[in-house]
Amino acid sequence: MFSNLFSPIQIGNMTSKNRLLMSAMSINFGVDDNCCVTDQLVQYLVERAKGGIGVMLVGGGSVHPGGQELPDLPQMYNDDCIPALKKMVEEVKKYDTLFGVQLMHGGRQSYLPEKVAPSAIPAPAVVKGEVRALEIDEIKDLAACFGDSARRCRDAGFDFVELHGAHGYLINQFLAPNSNIRTDEYGGSFENRSRFLFDIIYDIQKKVGKDFPIGIRINGNDYIENGWELKDTVKIGPLLEKAGIAYLHVSGGVYGSTELTIPSMYTDHGCFVHLAEEVKKHVNIPVITVGRIKYPDHADKIIQEGKADMVALGRSVLADPYYPEKAKMGQVEKIRPCIGCCLGCIHAVLAKEPGSCVVNPDVGREYKLKDEQKPSKALKVLIAGGGPAGMAAARQFALQGHKTILCEKGKETGGLLSLAAKAPGREELDDILNFFRQEIESLNIKTLFDTELSLDLINKIAPDKVILATGSMPDMPVIKGLFQTQMDLVTNVDVISGQETVKDKVIVLGGGMTGLITADFLADKGKQVVVLNRKKSFAEEMASNDRYYLRERLKLGHVSLYKNVSVKQFTNDGVVFKSNGEEFTLTDFQSVVISEKHSAIRDAKKLERKTKAKFHLIGDAKSPRHLMYCISEAEEIARSV
Ligand SMILES: Cc1cc2nc3c(=O)[nH]c(=O)nc-3n(C[C@H](O)[C@H](O)[C@H](O)COP(=O)(O)O)c2cc1C
Ligand code: SF4
Repeated sequence: MFSNLFSPIQIGNMTSKNRLLMSAMSINFGVDDNCCVTDQLVQYLVERAKGGIGVMLVGGGSVHPGGQELPDLPQMYNDDCIPALKKMVEEVKKYDTLFGVQLMHGGRQSYLPEKVAPSAIPAPAVVKGEVRALEIDEIKDLAACFGDSARRCRDAGFDFVELHGAHGYLINQFLAPNSNIRTDEYGGSFENRSRFLFDIIYDIQKKVGKDFPIGIRINGNDYIENGWELKDTVKIGPLLEKAGIAYLHVSGGVYGSTELTIPSMYTDHGCFVHLAEEVKKHVNIPVITVGRIKYPDHADKIIQEGKADMVALGRSVLADPYYPEKAKMGQVEKIRPCIGCCLGCIHAVLAKEPGSCVVNPDVGREYKLKDEQKPSKALKVLIAGGGPAGMAAARQFALQGHKTILCEKGKETGGLLSLAAKAPGREELDDILNFFRQEIESLNIKTLFDTELSLDLINKIAPDKVILATGSMPDMPVIKGLFQTQMDLVTNVDVISGQETVKDKVIVLGGGMTGLITADFLADKGKQVVVLNRKKSFAEEMASNDRYYLRERLKLGHVSLYKNVSVKQFTNDGVVFKSNGEEFTLTDFQSVVISEKHSAIRDAKKLERKTKAKFHLIGDAKSPRHLMYCISEAEEIARSV
């Protein structure tokens, strides 16, 4: 399958068995107090090497303590790091993959309080704090730090290094006119702005020889005013090739850009491919593309059409380390799909937490799971509720060898997540439901539809365990006038499921994720929508990368947003409320959609007293929260019995 993707390629003096590269990801776990790598990072990478990727990178390799992007990233800045790196290389290289380190300095995008950059200009977004402009001798020292770090990587046995010249980190800060306003030999002209990058390359080559491959990740477009642009990448590409660079990995975006480096489910698949395609016309070395290349047939087509020589996967191999193997075997439906939510991965790491994945809670726990024993005794488990939590639990219980039965009161599985997938731009949520559906089928898990949990059912099946994954439903708030108004009064679930329709002018009560998604759903149908949010901020439970695109959509849909709202009363055709202390009166509205809190559905818990089976609550039935908790709780309970 996918013969283009699974053909070998020469990269400098290396040969990759296929065209798939796992891009560098600063995952923010797996280092000790000195930032030397631990078994946690090793096993996370081993799992992905086993999964069949051709080339892989360790992310966030810090070349200087003052340039660390996040607290828990591996350091390459002193020789103490080498023994642990050596061990890591030994483990990973058992699995026929090319293994490299991405070397980086965060510059003004570092999390540290004291930040340095080419010029004293703070980052436009995400990180805050003063920035100091580097002195000339410091610039030369930093270039040498890259060289020394590359030497350590070579000594540890890595096949190559990649320079992080993209995404607004130090090298990119030198390249881009908006962050580099120096007037010395490191600023001003294109040549001067590129000097730091070439100093680094020459220093590495001096220290490790020209045979040791150096790749570079560079932006095809910063997508920010006065930033680095495609014409610049096209100009520098041949110069980098001449300098002996082994490959160009073309990405996009910086902190604060209009297109995000790590785009959410709202963006097109392959959003940066056109950048690589253009660069490829100007160089002969391999060009790698990246960015929401999610399905193997798409990746294969990119190679077939000559738009890039390799495809980098980031989040897809977090979600499923075995993506390459499964694609090669033609088992595409078995690939656990990244849904582009950005929550478990980039949102977590930018909050300085360990990275993980909403659909794959095993990320970061590989070292604990590698010696996991299956339970000695198989239990009979009855799971009530076919939403994501119920399906994830059913799958995991079955994988543990338990006899598993799933009952669902409706006619299909999916729960509230299948409704969320009906909102514009959120269709990919269905991918994870379809993954669980096919897993349930292939594991032969008996599923009873139109079947609510009852005492009769429990007596008939006689399970050892009952898992309540019965979900949640919207709460109706008590607000003056709400139940007397002549406007239609419905919930977000009514509207998105199509059970109820609303008229043209709609008030959505609730500015959390479901409120904003409902507003977008209605605006997309041409409704005039006002959102009243009784909280201080909008959709704070969403990843900022995902929320950014949703907010852009709401702007296009002319949705009016009010926060810090206290409602005085609903009237027959509107509402009187205060927002940020100012009073507003809306009139001439026809419908109100409630989209605030949800309450857990767990009436069936009372059956526990009447049976011998032990009951466990998971997901929204335990407490209504995000998908991340549903799946991780489901897998946890199945592993812990
Ligand atoms: C948690 C996380 C950390 C990342 N850290 C880095 C990094 O250190 N260096 C880098 O070049 N890109 C980093 N990226 C960006 C990815 O390498 C990749 O370019 C991006 O996720 C888009 O590809 P995808 O859609 O296949 O995930 C990171 C992405 C994620 C999700
Ligand atoms: S957390 Fe979401 S975006 Fe990140 S890898 Fe997992 S599914 Fe993909």
